[in-house]
Amino acid sequence: MSGRKLLCAAVGALLAGTVAAAADTVKVGIIGPFSGPFALQGKNFQAGVEAYMALNGKSVKGHEVEVIYRDLPAANPQQSRALAQELIVKDKVQYLGGVYFTPDAMAITPLLAQANTPLVIFNAATSAIMTQSPLVVRTSFTTAQTTTPLGKIAIERGIRKVITAVSDYGPGIDAEVAFKKAFEAAGGQVVESVRMPLSTNDFSPIMQRIRDSKADAVFAFLPSGPTTLGFVKAYNETGLKQAGIKFLAPGDLTQESDLPALGDGALGLLTTFHYAVSHDSPENKRFVEAASKAIGGAEQLSFPAVGAYDGMHVIYKMIEATDGKQDAKKAVDAVKGMAWTSPRGPVSIDPETRHVTENIYLREVAKDANGRLYNKEIQTFPNQKDPGLATQ
Ligand code: PHB
Repeated sequence: MSGRKLLCAAVGALLAGTVAAAADTVKVGIIGPFSGPFALQGKNFQAGVEAYMALNGKSVKGHEVEVIYRDLPAANPQQSRALAQELIVKDKVQYLGGVYFTPDAMAITPLLAQANTPLVIFNAATSAIMTQSPLVVRTSFTTAQTTTPLGKIAIERGIRKVITAVSDYGPGIDAEVAFKKAFEAAGGQVVESVRMPLSTNDFSPIMQRIRDSKADAVFAFLPSGPTTLGFVKAYNETGLKQAGIKFLAPGDLTQESDLPALGDGALGLLTTFHYAVSHDSPENKRFVEAASKAIGGAEQLSFPAVGAYDGMHVIYKMIEATDGKQDAKKAVDAVKGMAWTSPRGPVSIDPETRHVTENIYLREVAKDANGRLYNKEIQTFPNQKDPGLATQ
């Protein structure tokens, strides 16, 4: 070999070495609300991710996993798209994850195919997100999924007339439609439907409308955070409960981290949801211990942590299946039909919709032996798919 050829071979080997070394680290970009009014929800994403990595290691098949967090304090599709673009182009992430609000997820889906990047959604809960790109997988829930069992539950508890009150955007509308469908199929009647702007924080006019409707119960959905706390407080404090108007909602409205602020007024509130921090299983015990450590105290834990924990499980499987190489289709194909025991119970990724199939639990706010309020699981609806996708 000539000197020149030798040099070329050496440079080639060096380059190949560099490329291989660079491919060794797999970057995951996670978008969520890490500051502002919804910061606790984002911190729960981070706690779920950190708990997963603490329990399962920080590398997959020799590929180090590096997580990059990007803060999106409130629903803001333009900013969401810009953050995703920056993660893809500048940070060269192979996977996107997180995303709390539906409009932010919708804004990212058009980027995925060209970027050859899967998006694993840890929260955003509108059914239709899944139809926007074949590269989306979701480990949270949909509001149609969590809400549908409530229709029958309401009838069984003697409720015949309901007023619905939901935030006027994707997951609220899905919740309203799914509840109405299930409740009317079981023989009930929705007498009025109120859609509240996302920015609403004075709920007294809504409470008056609920009272005036003379319904037996209110069905409500708002995205978990300061808004849900405000709504449930208003329900508790404006005498609707005393007036005998019952409360029905998915578990977004009684997330564990809000219960101390709601106080004893929350006792007896009925909700349906995919996850309660109190879920009694060895997998959940392990998860709660690790996630509490990551977030700095069990009292801050809430459902976004479990979406993130299972989201990382899916991303780890994708990294394993692609041996650290960037191949979004192969990665997504590898998790279709994947089944495991989550801290929430048995789950699987529906191979058709790429959305998580899971148990939905009926829970009641109760007090534990230490006087702390918690969501007590009292009934299980096993292996629920997303009914929202079936109707679209
Ligand atoms: C959503 O925007 O999809 C969303 C946000 C918070 C929730 C549920 C759904 O609690």
